[in-house]
Amino acid sequence: MTETIDSRAYDHLWMHFTRMSSYKDHAVPTIVKGDGAYIWDAKGRRYLDGLAGLFVVQAGHGRAELAEAAAKQARELAFFPVWSYAHPNAIDLADRLASYAPGDLNKVFFTTGGGEAVETAWKLAKQYFKLVGKPMKHKVISRSIAYHGTPQGALSITGIPDAKKYFEPLVPGAHKVPNTNFYRAAEISGVPELGQDLERFGRWAADQVEQAILAEGPDTVAAVFVEPVQNSGGCFPPPPGYFQRLREICDTYDVLLVSDEVICAFGRLGTMFACDKFGYVPDIITCAKGMTSGYSPIGAAIVSDRIAAPFYEGDNYFPHGYTFGGHPVSAAVAMANLDIFEREGLNEQVLKNEQAFRSTLEKLSDLPIVGDVRGDGYFYGIELVKDKATKTTFDDDESERLLRGFLSTALFDAGLYCRADDRGDPVVQLAPPLICDQQQFDEIEQILRSVLTEAWTRL
Ligand SMILES: Cc1ncc(COP(=O)(O)O)c(C=O)c1O
Repeated sequence: MTETIDSRAYDHLWMHFTRMSSYKDHAVPTIVKGDGAYIWDAKGRRYLDGLAGLFVVQAGHGRAELAEAAAKQARELAFFPVWSYAHPNAIDLADRLASYAPGDLNKVFFTTGGGEAVETAWKLAKQYFKLVGKPMKHKVISRSIAYHGTPQGALSITGIPDAKKYFEPLVPGAHKVPNTNFYRAAEISGVPELGQDLERFGRWAADQVEQAILAEGPDTVAAVFVEPVQNSGGCFPPPPGYFQRLREICDTYDVLLVSDEVICAFGRLGTMFACDKFGYVPDIITCAKGMTSGYSPIGAAIVSDRIAAPFYEGDNYFPHGYTFGGHPVSAAVAMANLDIFEREGLNEQVLKNEQAFRSTLEKLSDLPIVGDVRGDGYFYGIELVKDKATKTTFDDDESERLLRGFLSTALFDAGLYCRADDRGDPVVQLAPPLICDQQQFDEIEQILRSVLTEAWTRL
Protein backbone atom coordinates (compact mmCIF):
# COMPACT_ATOMS: atom_id res chain seq x y z
CA MET A 1 0.00 0.00 0.00
CA THR A 2 2.70 2.44 1.13
CA GLU A 3 4.99 1.40 -1.69
CA THR A 4 2.14 2.04 -4.05
CA ILE A 5 1.56 5.60 -2.86
CA ASP A 6 5.26 6.45 -2.97
CA SER A 7 5.79 4.95 -6.41
CA ARG A 8 2.59 6.44 -7.84
CA ALA A 9 4.00 9.79 -6.75
CA TYR A 10 7.08 9.06 -8.83
CA ASP A 11 5.04 8.00 -11.84
CA HIS A 12 2.72 10.99 -12.02
CA LEU A 13 3.54 13.80 -9.63
CA TRP A 14 6.29 16.03 -10.95
CA MET A 15 8.15 17.27 -7.86
CA HIS A 16 9.19 20.92 -7.82
CA PHE A 17 12.86 21.88 -7.87
CA THR A 18 13.78 18.19 -7.62
CA ARG A 19 15.97 15.79 -9.54
CA MET A 20 13.49 13.02 -10.28
CA SER A 21 16.37 10.57 -10.73
CA SER A 22 17.39 11.04 -7.11
CA TYR A 23 14.61 8.84 -5.72
CA LYS A 24 15.84 5.42 -4.76
CA ASP A 25 13.50 2.71 -6.05
CA HIS A 26 11.42 5.43 -7.70
CA ALA A 27 9.67 6.08 -4.42
CA VAL A 28 8.89 9.63 -3.28
CA PRO A 29 8.55 10.11 0.50
CA THR A 30 4.88 10.90 1.06
CA ILE A 31 3.68 12.96 4.00
CA VAL A 32 0.13 12.14 5.02
CA LYS A 33 -0.57 13.87 8.33
CA GLY A 34 0.50 16.76 10.55
CA ASP A 35 -0.11 17.69 14.16
CA GLY A 36 1.55 20.63 15.94
CA ALA A 37 5.25 20.65 15.07
CA TYR A 38 5.23 17.08 13.71
CA ILE A 39 4.41 15.36 10.44
CA TRP A 40 3.93 11.68 9.58
CA ASP A 41 4.79 9.80 6.42
CA ALA A 42 2.77 7.08 4.71
CA LYS A 43 4.72 4.44 6.60
CA GLY A 44 3.59 5.93 9.92
CA ARG A 45 6.99 7.46 10.84
CA ARG A 46 6.99 10.75 12.69
CA TYR A 47 9.26 13.72 11.84
CA LEU A 48 9.84 17.10 13.42
CA ASP A 49 8.87 19.69 10.83
CA GLY A 50 12.01 21.82 11.06
CA LEU A 51 11.03 23.96 8.08
CA ALA A 52 7.32 24.60 8.79
CA GLY A 53 6.60 22.89 5.46
CA LEU A 54 8.37 25.55 3.42
CA PHE A 55 8.56 28.50 5.86
CA VAL A 56 4.77 28.40 5.96
CA VAL A 57 3.05 26.52 8.80
CA GLN A 58 3.50 29.19 11.48
CA ALA A 59 0.63 28.10 13.74
CA GLY A 60 1.53 24.42 13.43
CA HIS A 61 -0.26 21.51 11.80
CA GLY A 62 -3.69 20.11 12.58
CA ARG A 63 -5.51 23.30 13.55
CA ALA A 64 -9.18 22.36 13.31
CA GLU A 65 -10.36 25.96 13.54
CA LEU A 66 -8.52 26.86 10.32
CA ALA A 67 -10.10 23.90 8.53
CA GLU A 68 -13.49 24.98 9.87
CA ALA A 69 -12.99 28.58 8.76
CA ALA A 70 -12.32 27.26 5.25
CA ALA A 71 -15.38 24.99 5.26
CA LYS A 72 -17.65 27.73 6.59
CA GLN A 73 -16.53 30.17 3.90
CA ALA A 74 -16.78 27.57 1.12
CA ARG A 75 -20.39 26.89 2.15
CA GLU A 76 -21.24 30.59 2.23
CA LEU A 77 -19.42 31.89 -0.85
CA ALA A 78 -16.82 29.54 -2.25
CA PHE A 79 -15.56 31.86 -4.93
CA PHE A 80 -15.76 35.35 -6.16
CA PRO A 81 -12.92 37.34 -7.71
CA VAL A 82 -11.73 40.73 -6.53
CA TRP A 83 -12.11 42.06 -10.06
CA SER A 84 -14.36 45.12 -9.65
CA TYR A 85 -16.53 43.47 -6.95
CA ALA A 86 -15.44 42.85 -3.38
CA HIS A 87 -16.29 40.18 -0.80
CA PRO A 88 -16.23 40.61 2.98
CA ASN A 89 -13.22 38.49 3.91
CA ALA A 90 -10.96 40.16 1.37
CA ILE A 91 -12.05 43.54 2.75
CA ASP A 92 -11.50 42.47 6.36
CA LEU A 93 -8.13 40.95 5.57
CA ALA A 94 -6.93 43.97 3.56
CA ASP A 95 -8.01 46.23 6.40
CA ARG A 96 -6.24 44.04 8.95
CA LEU A 97 -3.00 43.79 6.95
CA ALA A 98 -3.02 47.57 6.52
CA SER A 99 -3.41 47.95 10.29
CA TYR A 100 -0.35 45.72 10.89
CA ALA A 101 1.76 47.33 8.16
CA PRO A 102 3.95 50.31 9.04
CA GLY A 103 3.68 53.90 7.76
CA ASP A 104 1.09 54.59 5.10
CA LEU A 105 1.14 51.06 3.62
CA ASN A 106 -2.64 50.83 3.36
CA LYS A 107 -3.49 49.37 -0.04
CA VAL A 108 -3.50 45.61 -0.41
CA PHE A 109 -3.30 43.92 -3.81
CA PHE A 110 -3.93 40.18 -3.37
CA THR A 111 -2.21 37.39 -5.29
CA THR A 112 -2.16 33.63 -4.81
CA GLY A 113 1.46 33.37 -3.68
CA GLY A 114 4.83 35.03 -3.20
CA GLY A 115 6.23 35.02 -6.74
CA GLU A 116 3.07 36.68 -8.00
CA ALA A 117 3.39 39.29 -5.25
CA VAL A 118 6.94 40.08 -6.40
CA GLU A 119 5.82 40.16 -10.04
CA THR A 120 2.98 42.49 -9.04
CA ALA A 121 5.33 44.81 -7.15
CA TRP A 122 7.68 45.19 -10.10
CA LYS A 123 4.84 45.88 -12.56
CA LEU A 124 3.32 48.31 -10.11
CA ALA A 125 6.63 50.15 -9.67
CA LYS A 126 7.06 50.44 -13.44
CA GLN A 127 3.57 51.80 -13.96
CA TYR A 128 3.78 54.13 -10.96
CA PHE A 129 6.74 55.93 -12.51
CA LYS A 130 4.98 56.19 -15.86
CA LEU A 131 1.98 57.75 -14.13
CA VAL A 132 4.11 60.31 -12.29
CA GLY A 133 6.03 61.37 -15.40
CA LYS A 134 9.25 59.38 -14.97
CA PRO A 135 8.65 56.79 -17.70
CA MET A 136 12.28 55.71 -17.97
CA LYS A 137 12.32 54.26 -14.46
CA HIS A 138 11.83 50.51 -14.89
CA LYS A 139 14.93 48.65 -13.63
CA VAL A 140 15.32 46.78 -10.36
CA ILE A 141 18.25 46.14 -8.05
CA SER A 142 18.32 43.00 -5.91
CA ARG A 143 20.95 40.93 -4.16
CA SER A 144 23.13 38.09 -5.24
CA ILE A 145 21.90 34.55 -4.38
CA ALA A 146 18.50 35.94 -3.24
CA TYR A 147 15.38 34.02 -4.25
CA HIS A 148 12.30 36.01 -5.23
CA GLY A 149 10.17 33.45 -7.09
CA THR A 150 9.75 31.80 -10.48
CA PRO A 151 7.53 33.97 -12.73
CA GLN A 152 9.85 35.43 -15.36
CA GLY A 153 9.94 38.90 -13.80
CA ALA A 154 10.46 37.56 -10.28
CA LEU A 155 13.05 35.13 -11.64
CA SER A 156 14.92 38.03 -13.19
CA ILE A 157 15.01 39.64 -9.74
CA THR A 158 16.21 36.33 -8.29
CA GLY A 159 19.99 36.17 -7.94
CA ILE A 160 20.58 32.42 -8.26
CA PRO A 161 22.24 31.67 -11.62
CA ASP A 162 21.27 27.98 -11.57
CA ALA A 163 17.58 28.81 -11.19
CA LYS A 164 17.69 31.14 -14.19
CA LYS A 165 20.08 29.69 -16.75
CA TYR A 166 17.59 27.62 -18.78
CA PHE A 167 15.10 30.46 -19.04
CA GLU A 168 17.28 33.26 -20.30
CA PRO A 169 16.70 35.74 -21.73
CA LEU A 170 14.53 36.82 -18.81
CA VAL A 171 12.94 40.21 -18.23
CA PRO A 172 15.70 42.76 -18.86
CA GLY A 173 16.67 45.44 -16.37
CA ALA A 174 17.36 43.40 -13.22
CA HIS A 175 20.75 44.12 -11.64
CA LYS A 176 22.46 42.44 -8.72
CA VAL A 177 24.44 43.79 -5.78
CA PRO A 178 26.28 41.92 -2.99
CA ASN A 179 24.22 40.49 -0.14
CA THR A 180 24.92 40.85 3.59
CA ASN A 181 26.78 37.58 4.19
CA PHE A 182 29.00 38.82 7.04
CA TYR A 183 30.71 35.42 7.39
CA ARG A 184 32.18 36.03 3.92
CA ALA A 185 32.38 39.82 4.21
CA ALA A 186 36.12 40.00 3.53
CA GLU A 187 35.79 37.86 0.40
CA ILE A 188 32.69 39.62 -0.91
CA SER A 189 34.02 43.14 -0.40
CA GLY A 190 37.68 42.43 -1.09
CA VAL A 191 38.43 44.47 2.07
CA PRO A 192 39.76 42.23 4.89
CA GLU A 193 38.88 44.71 7.66
CA LEU A 194 35.19 44.57 6.76
CA GLY A 195 35.21 40.95 7.89
CA GLN A 196 35.84 42.27 11.44
CA ASP A 197 33.38 45.15 11.49
CA LEU A 198 29.71 44.35 11.03
CA GLU A 199 28.53 47.93 10.89
CA ARG A 200 31.12 49.02 8.35
CA PHE A 201 30.34 45.97 6.25
CA GLY A 202 26.63 46.87 6.38
CA ARG A 203 27.41 50.39 5.26
CA TRP A 204 29.57 49.04 2.44
CA ALA A 205 26.85 46.58 1.34
CA ALA A 206 24.15 49.28 1.36
CA ASP A 207 26.43 51.63 -0.55
CA GLN A 208 26.69 49.01 -3.30
CA VAL A 209 23.01 49.65 -3.98
CA GLU A 210 23.78 53.33 -4.47
CA GLN A 211 26.67 52.43 -6.77
CA ALA A 212 24.36 50.23 -8.85
CA ILE A 213 21.72 52.97 -9.09
CA LEU A 214 24.36 55.44 -10.22
CA ALA A 215 25.88 52.98 -12.68
CA GLU A 216 22.50 52.22 -14.25
CA GLY A 217 21.33 55.83 -14.11
CA PRO A 218 18.92 56.94 -11.37
CA ASP A 219 16.35 57.96 -13.95
CA THR A 220 16.12 54.32 -15.10
CA VAL A 221 15.86 52.54 -11.73
CA ALA A 222 12.39 51.89 -10.31
CA ALA A 223 12.89 49.66 -7.28
CA VAL A 224 15.19 47.81 -4.92
CA PHE A 225 13.94 44.35 -3.81
CA VAL A 226 15.38 42.95 -0.58
CA GLU A 227 14.37 40.41 2.03
CA PRO A 228 14.66 41.56 5.66
CA VAL A 229 16.74 38.42 6.31
CA GLN A 230 17.89 36.85 3.05
CA ASN A 231 16.95 33.18 2.93
CA SER A 232 18.94 31.83 0.03
CA GLY A 233 22.61 31.40 0.88
CA GLY A 234 21.57 30.64 4.46
CA CYS A 235 19.89 33.42 6.45
CA PHE A 236 21.79 36.69 6.12
CA PRO A 237 20.48 39.17 8.70
CA PRO A 238 20.91 42.88 7.93
CA PRO A 239 23.86 44.54 9.71
CA PRO A 240 22.86 47.41 12.03
CA GLY A 241 22.05 50.51 10.00
CA TYR A 242 21.79 48.62 6.69
CA PHE A 243 18.11 49.29 6.10
CA GLN A 244 18.31 52.87 7.34
CA ARG A 245 20.99 53.50 4.72
CA LEU A 246 18.95 51.72 2.02
CA ARG A 247 15.93 53.88 2.87
CA GLU A 248 18.09 56.99 2.58
CA ILE A 249 19.47 55.89 -0.80
CA CYS A 250 16.01 55.04 -2.15
CA ASP A 251 14.69 58.44 -1.04
CA THR A 252 17.65 60.26 -2.58
CA TYR A 253 17.17 58.69 -6.02
CA ASP A 254 13.36 58.28 -5.94
CA VAL A 255 13.58 54.50 -6.05
CA LEU A 256 10.94 52.29 -4.37
CA LEU A 257 12.07 50.08 -1.51
CA VAL A 258 10.31 46.71 -1.72
CA SER A 259 10.57 44.53 1.37
CA ASP A 260 10.11 40.97 0.15
CA GLU A 261 8.70 39.36 3.28
CA VAL A 262 7.37 36.19 1.68
CA ILE A 263 9.29 34.25 4.34
CA CYS A 264 9.98 36.86 7.02
CA ALA A 265 6.44 38.20 7.64
CA PHE A 266 3.85 36.70 9.97
CA GLY A 267 5.97 35.90 12.96
CA ARG A 268 8.98 34.20 11.41
CA LEU A 269 11.10 36.89 13.12
CA GLY A 270 8.60 37.62 15.91
CA THR A 271 6.73 40.52 14.29
CA MET A 272 3.83 40.64 11.82
CA PHE A 273 6.05 42.41 9.31
CA ALA A 274 9.79 42.02 9.53
CA CYS A 275 10.53 45.61 8.49
CA ASP A 276 9.20 46.55 11.95
CA LYS A 277 11.84 44.41 13.60
CA PHE A 278 14.61 46.29 11.79
CA GLY A 279 12.97 49.71 12.01
CA TYR A 280 12.40 50.69 8.37
CA VAL A 281 9.34 51.58 6.35
CA PRO A 282 9.37 50.23 2.79
CA ASP A 283 7.15 51.46 -0.06
CA ILE A 284 5.80 47.99 -0.79
CA ILE A 285 5.75 44.77 1.25
CA THR A 286 5.38 41.48 -0.61
CA CYS A 287 4.13 38.59 1.51
CA ALA A 288 2.42 35.19 1.29
CA LYS A 289 3.32 31.88 2.97
CA GLY A 290 2.60 32.38 6.69
CA MET A 291 -0.48 34.56 6.17
CA THR A 292 -2.70 31.47 6.37
CA SER A 293 -0.11 29.18 8.01
CA GLY A 294 -0.48 27.31 4.71
CA TYR A 295 -4.05 26.13 5.25
CA SER A 296 -4.95 27.84 1.96
CA PRO A 297 -2.84 29.80 -0.54
CA ILE A 298 -2.73 33.58 -0.72
CA GLY A 299 -0.19 36.35 -1.19
CA ALA A 300 -0.21 40.14 -1.31
CA ALA A 301 1.61 43.28 -2.29
CA ILE A 302 0.92 45.90 0.37
CA VAL A 303 1.44 49.34 -1.12
CA SER A 304 1.85 52.78 0.38
CA ASP A 305 -0.88 55.39 -0.12
CA ARG A 306 1.70 57.58 -1.81
CA ILE A 307 2.50 54.98 -4.50
CA ALA A 308 -1.16 53.98 -4.89
CA ALA A 309 -2.40 57.59 -5.23
CA PRO A 310 -1.92 58.08 -8.98
CA PHE A 311 -3.69 54.76 -9.67
CA TYR A 312 -6.79 56.12 -7.95
CA GLU A 313 -7.02 59.16 -10.25
CA GLY A 314 -9.09 59.69 -13.41
CA ASP A 315 -8.92 56.92 -16.00
CA ASN A 316 -5.85 55.32 -14.44
CA TYR A 317 -5.97 51.73 -13.26
CA PHE A 318 -3.58 48.82 -12.73
CA PRO A 319 -4.16 46.37 -15.61
CA HIS A 320 -3.09 43.34 -13.59
CA GLY A 321 -4.73 40.60 -11.49
CA TYR A 322 -5.25 36.90 -10.80
CA THR A 323 -8.47 34.85 -10.89
CA PHE A 324 -7.72 33.39 -7.47
CA GLY A 325 -6.09 36.49 -5.92
CA GLY A 326 -7.75 37.23 -2.57
CA HIS A 327 -9.75 33.98 -2.78
CA PRO A 328 -12.65 34.08 -0.26
CA VAL A 329 -11.67 30.78 1.36
CA SER A 330 -8.01 31.80 1.70
CA ALA A 331 -8.99 35.21 3.04
CA ALA A 332 -11.25 33.58 5.65
CA VAL A 333 -8.46 31.21 6.66
CA ALA A 334 -5.99 34.11 6.89
CA MET A 335 -8.37 35.95 9.23
CA ALA A 336 -8.72 32.88 11.44
CA ASN A 337 -4.96 32.34 11.38
CA LEU A 338 -4.30 35.93 12.43
CA ASP A 339 -6.84 35.43 15.25
CA ILE A 340 -4.65 32.55 16.46
CA PHE A 341 -1.58 34.81 16.25
CA GLU A 342 -3.26 37.35 18.50
CA ARG A 343 -4.98 34.95 20.90
CA GLU A 344 -1.90 32.79 21.46
CA GLY A 345 0.67 35.57 21.17
CA LEU A 346 2.73 33.76 18.52
CA ASN A 347 4.92 36.78 17.82
CA GLU A 348 5.60 37.23 21.52
CA GLN A 349 6.41 33.52 21.77
CA VAL A 350 9.07 33.90 19.06
CA LEU A 351 10.54 37.00 20.69
CA LYS A 352 10.60 35.24 24.06
CA ASN A 353 12.31 32.11 22.68
CA GLU A 354 14.53 33.41 19.89
CA GLN A 355 17.59 33.69 22.09
CA ALA A 356 17.09 30.13 23.35
CA PHE A 357 16.76 28.87 19.76
CA ARG A 358 19.95 30.67 18.80
CA SER A 359 21.91 29.40 21.83
CA THR A 360 20.74 25.84 21.25
CA LEU A 361 21.84 25.89 17.61
CA GLU A 362 25.10 27.62 18.52
CA LYS A 363 26.04 24.59 20.60
CA LEU A 364 26.71 22.93 17.23
CA SER A 365 29.61 25.33 16.66
CA ASP A 366 31.90 22.85 18.42
CA LEU A 367 31.56 20.49 15.41
CA PRO A 368 34.40 20.77 12.88
CA ILE A 369 31.94 20.96 9.97
CA VAL A 370 29.91 23.90 11.34
CA GLY A 371 31.36 27.18 10.07
CA ASP A 372 28.62 29.62 10.99
CA VAL A 373 25.24 29.70 12.72
CA ARG A 374 23.20 32.74 11.67
CA GLY A 375 19.68 34.03 11.49
CA ASP A 376 17.00 35.75 13.49
CA GLY A 377 13.76 34.79 15.20
CA TYR A 378 12.79 31.24 14.22
CA PHE A 379 14.79 31.41 10.99
CA TYR A 380 18.35 30.00 10.90
CA GLY A 381 21.00 28.78 8.53
CA ILE A 382 23.96 26.63 9.55
CA GLU A 383 26.82 26.93 7.09
CA LEU A 384 28.93 23.82 6.62
CA VAL A 385 32.63 24.11 5.81
CA LYS A 386 35.55 21.84 5.08
CA ASP A 387 37.96 23.90 7.15
CA LYS A 388 36.76 26.22 9.88
CA ALA A 389 40.00 28.15 10.25
CA THR A 390 40.13 29.12 6.58
CA LYS A 391 36.33 29.00 5.99
CA THR A 392 37.07 26.79 2.99
CA THR A 393 33.88 25.51 1.46
CA PHE A 394 33.24 22.21 -0.31
CA ASP A 395 33.93 21.77 -4.00
CA ASP A 396 31.06 20.75 -6.30
CA ASP A 397 31.84 17.10 -5.99
CA GLU A 398 31.98 17.15 -2.18
CA SER A 399 28.84 19.25 -2.03
CA GLU A 400 27.09 16.75 -4.23
CA ARG A 401 28.16 13.81 -2.08
CA LEU A 402 27.53 15.58 1.20
CA LEU A 403 24.29 17.44 0.62
CA ARG A 404 22.50 15.39 -2.00
CA GLY A 405 24.10 12.03 -1.39
CA PHE A 406 23.95 12.01 2.39
CA LEU A 407 22.66 14.91 4.47
CA SER A 408 19.09 15.47 3.29
CA THR A 409 18.21 11.79 3.50
CA ALA A 410 20.13 11.17 6.72
CA LEU A 411 18.41 14.07 8.51
CA PHE A 412 15.03 12.86 7.33
CA ASP A 413 15.81 9.28 8.33
CA ALA A 414 16.82 10.57 11.76
CA GLY A 415 13.40 12.23 12.14
CA LEU A 416 14.07 15.83 11.11
CA TYR A 417 12.51 17.40 8.05
CA CYS A 418 14.61 20.44 7.09
CA ARG A 419 16.62 21.53 4.12
CA ALA A 420 20.21 21.11 3.01
CA ASP A 421 20.76 23.78 0.41
CA ASP A 422 23.71 24.67 -1.80
CA ARG A 423 22.35 27.55 -3.83
CA GLY A 424 25.08 29.58 -2.14
CA ASP A 425 27.61 27.95 0.15
CA PRO A 426 26.21 24.72 1.67
CA VAL A 427 23.79 25.33 4.53
CA VAL A 428 21.20 23.52 6.57
CA GLN A 429 18.10 25.68 6.89
CA LEU A 430 15.76 25.70 9.85
CA ALA A 431 12.44 27.48 10.28
CA PRO A 432 10.19 25.48 12.61
CA PRO A 433 6.55 26.31 13.36
CA LEU A 434 6.24 29.23 15.77
CA ILE A 435 4.66 27.03 18.44
CA CYS A 436 7.99 25.25 18.99
CA ASP A 437 9.89 25.65 22.23
CA GLN A 438 12.97 24.29 23.96
CA GLN A 439 11.83 20.69 23.57
CA GLN A 440 11.89 20.96 19.78
CA PHE A 441 15.05 23.11 19.78
CA ASP A 442 16.82 20.34 21.68
CA GLU A 443 15.46 17.70 19.34
CA ILE A 444 16.73 19.67 16.33
CA GLU A 445 20.14 20.15 17.94
CA GLN A 446 20.52 16.48 18.86
CA ILE A 447 19.57 15.18 15.42
CA LEU A 448 21.81 17.70 13.68
CA ARG A 449 24.67 16.86 16.02
CA SER A 450 24.58 13.16 15.28
CA VAL A 451 24.03 13.51 11.52
CA LEU A 452 26.63 16.27 11.04
CA THR A 453 29.15 14.26 13.07
CA GLU A 454 28.57 11.30 10.77
CA ALA A 455 28.78 13.59 7.69
CA TRP A 456 32.25 14.74 8.78
CA THR A 457 33.52 11.16 8.94
CA ARG A 458 32.32 10.57 5.38
CA LEU A 459 34.19 13.41 3.80
C1 LIG B 1 11.62 35.89 -0.51
C2 LIG B 1 10.73 35.11 -1.42
N1 LIG B 1 10.08 35.73 -2.42
C3 LIG B 1 9.27 35.07 -3.25
C4 LIG B 1 9.07 33.71 -3.13
C5 LIG B 1 8.16 32.99 -4.07
O1 LIG B 1 6.99 32.60 -3.42
P1 LIG B 1 6.04 31.48 -4.05
O2 LIG B 1 6.77 30.20 -4.02
O3 LIG B 1 4.83 31.52 -3.16
O4 LIG B 1 5.71 31.94 -5.45
C6 LIG B 1 9.72 33.02 -2.11
C7 LIG B 1 9.53 31.58 -1.95
O5 LIG B 1 10.13 30.92 -1.13
C8 LIG B 1 10.58 33.72 -1.24
O6 LIG B 1 11.25 33.10 -0.27
